[in-house]
Amino acid sequence: MTYGLLKGKKGLIFGALNEKSIAWKVAERACEEGAQIVLTNTPVSMRFGSINELANRLNTIVIPADATKVEDLEQLVQKGMEHIGGQFDFVLHSIGMSPNVRKGRTYDDLDYAYLQQTLDISAISFHKVLQVCRKADAISEWGSVVALSYIAAQRTLYGYNDMADAKAMLESIARSFGYIYGREKKIRINTVSQSPTLTTAGSGIMGFDNLVDFADRMSPLGNADSSDCADYVITLFSDLTRKVTMQNLFHDGGYASMGMSFRAMKVYNEGLEYRDVKDDKTRRR
Ligand SMILES: NC(=O)c1ccc[n+]([C@@H]2O[C@H](COP(=O)([O-])OP(=O)(O)OC[C@H]3O[C@@H](n4cnc5c(N)ncnc54)[C@H](O)[C@@H]3O)[C@@H](O)[C@H]2O)c1
Repeated sequence: MTYGLLKGKKGLIFGALNEKSIAWKVAERACEEGAQIVLTNTPVSMRFGSINELANRLNTIVIPADATKVEDLEQLVQKGMEHIGGQFDFVLHSIGMSPNVRKGRTYDDLDYAYLQQTLDISAISFHKVLQVCRKADAISEWGSVVALSYIAAQRTLYGYNDMADAKAMLESIARSFGYIYGREKKIRINTVSQSPTLTTAGSGIMGFDNLVDFADRMSPLGNADSSDCADYVITLFSDLTRKVTMQNLFHDGGYASMGMSFRAMKVYNEGLEYRDVKDDKTRRR
C-alpha cells in the first residue's frame, strides 16, 4: 500500500549494495511514496554489488563516493543537487563496515589501524556527511536525516566487536549535530536501531544466524526485516514526524525492552550448550 507520504520530496540515499541492503528497500519505498532520489556508494561496491540495476529501475543516477572522503562527499552533494535541481529533503546514512570483524580479530585483540577504519567508515562518515551538507546548505528546512544503528551501542553483544563502539559514536553524532541543525534549520537527525537483518554487512558478524534466531524468539513481535525497516524510515522522512529529533529509535519488534522471553527461556532450558567464544572453532579468521 502506498500513501504518497514523500510526494514532491527529494532524497539522498547511501548504502544500497544489493537487493538485501536496507538502503535498497528504503530507496524502493521512497520512490513508491513519491520521492525523487539520488543513490550513492563506493566505486568498489558499485562494481561488486548491483546498485546500477536499482538506479535503472528507479530511473535515477548513482554518484560514486567514499563516505570517509570529504572531497568525494562535496562532489556528491554538488552533483546530486544539480541532478534533482535543489536541496535534499531527506538523507539516509546506511553505511557500516569493520575490518576487525571481517578479519576475525576479537574485541580483546583489535588491530588499531582497523579500528580507526571501523570508526571512520561506520560513524565519523555520518559527521562528514552532515558537515558537508550543512556547509553546502544541501538540506531543506524541516528536512530529515536518518542513520542506521544497532542495540550493541547500549548492550554488550560480543560478536559485534568494535562495531558496538562505532554505533555508540554514531548515535552520539545524531544528538550533537541534531542540536545544531535543529536549532538552525529545523532539520531533524535520528538513528534507527534495527533488528539483526540478513544482509551482506549483517552476515559478517560472528554467530549472526544464532543472533537472528535469538532476537526473534525474544521479541514479542518478532524481528523487523529490511522491508519493515524501510517502512519505518519512510515515516521519519515524512512530514508526520517533524518534531522527532536527536533520538535513537528502536525498530526491533520490542527486543530492546525485553529481559528474557518465555520462549527464549524454554529453548535455553531445553539444552543450548554454552560454548565460550574462544573455543568456538566456527568463528572467522
Ligand atoms: N544487517 C543488520 O543486522 C543491521 C542491524 C542494525 C543496523 N544495521 C546497519 O544498517 C546499515 C546498512 O547495512 P546493511 O545491513 O543494509 O548491509 P549492506 O552490506 O547491504 O550495507 C552496508 C553498506 O555500507 C557501504 N559502505 C561501506 N563502506 C563505505 C564507505 N567508505 N563509503 C560509503 N559506503 C560504504 C557498503 O558499500 C554497503 O552498501 C549499516 O549501518 C549497518 O550497521 C544493520
